[in-house]
Amino acid sequence: MKIKNLEQHYQRIFRQLQELLTKTPDQTARLATIAALLHHKMPHFFWTGFYLKIDDCLIVGPYQGPLACQVLDEQKGVCWTGILQKQTVVVPDVHKFADHIACDRRSNSEIVIPLIRQDGSVWGVMDVDSENFNAFSEIDQKWLEKIVSLLNS
Ligand code: SME
Repeated sequence: MKIKNLEQHYQRIFRQLQELLTKTPDQTARLATIAALLHHKMPHFFWTGFYLKIDDCLIVGPYQGPLACQVLDEQKGVCWTGILQKQTVVVPDVHKFADHIACDRRSNSEIVIPLIRQDGSVWGVMDVDSENFNAFSEIDQKWLEKIVSLLNS
């Protein structure tokens, strides 16, 4: 699959998710729907999913792709950085990120978007890995942040 226009591609996916996320308020169903749709529509996504903050741990949630770590070591790695900074983290080369947690050796770049409630508290992250270096652009960041914001609707 080759994407001609990434911006328009995300626009279509976003509209589709807007519609799909009206079906149920169940958070597991919604996270699984986002992971499945993105993973199968984005050729540069190798692992697509969520880590959820449960009792101060980060536990894997719905995902698509190869088997991943179930629990992420406290305060280490890209996902925890996104949680602690409450900001998107884009890592063009994971091998240069000091305490990156490698669940799969084939991942070379990564983007993490925190899931933030309306009261400002963080309840998890969306995490996407790519086999390509420098796979995630400002376009990916903008649209993935918009997609994640649908979880507050
Ligand atoms: N690389 C992440 C761990 C999760 S996997 O990429 C699926 C991290 O450093 O937090």
